[in-house]
Amino acid sequence: MNSDTHVSNRWSSRYAYVLAATGAAVGLGNIWKFPYIMGENGGGAFVFVYLLCVLFIGIPIMMAEVVIGKRGRSTPANAVALVAKESGHSSHWSIIGSMGVLAGFLILSFYIVIAGWAAAYVFYAGSGEFSAAAADPATNAEVIGNLFGDLVSSIPKLLAWTTITMAAVIYVISKGVKGGLETAVTYLMPALFILLVGIMLYSAVVGDFAAAFSFMFDIDFSKLTIEGVLVALGHAFFTLSLASGVMMVYGAYLPEGVSIAKTSIMIAIADTVVALIAGLAIYPIVFAHGLEPSAGPGLLFQSLPIAFGSMPMGDFFGTLFFIMILFAAFTSAIALLEASAAYLEERQKLSRVKAAIIAGVVIWIFSLGTVFSLAGTEWAQINFGFMGDNIFAMFDYLTTNILMPLGGLLISIFAGWVMKSDVVKKEFNLAQWQFTLVMVLLRYIAPLGILFVFANSVGILDFIKQST
Ligand code: TRP
Repeated sequence: MNSDTHVSNRWSSRYAYVLAATGAAVGLGNIWKFPYIMGENGGGAFVFVYLLCVLFIGIPIMMAEVVIGKRGRSTPANAVALVAKESGHSSHWSIIGSMGVLAGFLILSFYIVIAGWAAAYVFYAGSGEFSAAAADPATNAEVIGNLFGDLVSSIPKLLAWTTITMAAVIYVISKGVKGGLETAVTYLMPALFILLVGIMLYSAVVGDFAAAFSFMFDIDFSKLTIEGVLVALGHAFFTLSLASGVMMVYGAYLPEGVSIAKTSIMIAIADTVVALIAGLAIYPIVFAHGLEPSAGPGLLFQSLPIAFGSMPMGDFFGTLFFIMILFAAFTSAIALLEASAAYLEERQKLSRVKAAIIAGVVIWIFSLGTVFSLAGTEWAQINFGFMGDNIFAMFDYLTTNILMPLGGLLISIFAGWVMKSDVVKKEFNLAQWQFTLVMVLLRYIAPLGILFVFANSVGILDFIKQST
């Protein structure tokens, strides 16, 4: 192996790694997306399927990504190429790594805009907009709706919030892995967790906890559609930050002697617990106020503020709530920028600061596509056919429904069938039965499960349904 392509960064401890990877995993996916897709797909049964997907597909693929990154000790494309060569295969497998970095790059271009919404809402809640709107119940919903509508249709506002958030992300990444990433997650993750538990308790007191609990945990399979199963699997990928370059990069920074299996399980559990607590924080409020659980993407930004406005200390808890979302989004955004910045640093031999700035600015330029899509500007409304009718929809579709499942499929095949089994075994360092179990998941269960999602997301199943 060519040593000058290797990364020299290492996490300072197992704890730092778990915290950073959990920071990447826990994000808008957990707090914004999970509650509303659970609501749209029937509650308990959906939660159950999602848990199975995390356990049997998500965890093994996370382990595979980390092992590839660690074995290659370089950024994703190089890491995959080195590991492939080591196992006597073509270095063209590096496409898996490149796809991941590309997915991460595109995800950040829209993720940062939504993170910007969360930042804006910290100010809306903090300045008492929610309770002011609630003063007149007759117009409450309309005023809150306009608040959101004005934000997403205003180019200057979207630009300002996106730019501020991106600048903060660039700043952290320019400080390096230890000085920037680790420091940020060391403060933000515990704060996030405390906020989340605090809001859940508040919501249990002022909301309808029992209704929320039975909505989330009463399993009624008659409410689950095949579509719901596919959404659950896709979400398992997104929420664990799989197939977007990041877990390979984080694996490359893993110190020797850390158990990949144990830490992957810990990260997945932490991510899942946060998603469930987020549900238990949001749904009691939704039910107590007669809001629609299936309100869709607007649940967080349009429905909840209506409720906060009329609740005791609603402005205060509303502010904390959006700070929590901002922290969650921010720790994911820095992970996403790390993947692109590490790539520039290693491949283009740029300094850390230059790599962070260039990657950040280029992604910021791409984020304009989402900003102008949301604001309805003509040039961003391009018809991408089944991928959507504007740039934002297309990037979302391309990453979540194409690049991530395809990447996950290739990763499981690569780790299960291409990598030398004794290398994988040595790196996993598991008891024989445990290793066998992981390999069965990687070789059969994960690829077949993903093929199933993928077939649906590109419309193959619809096509088959129509033609039979
Ligand atoms: N897991 C993040 C969330 O739930 C989203 C995400 C997808 C991500 N891929 C990523 C975050 C890569 C960081 C790195 O919001």
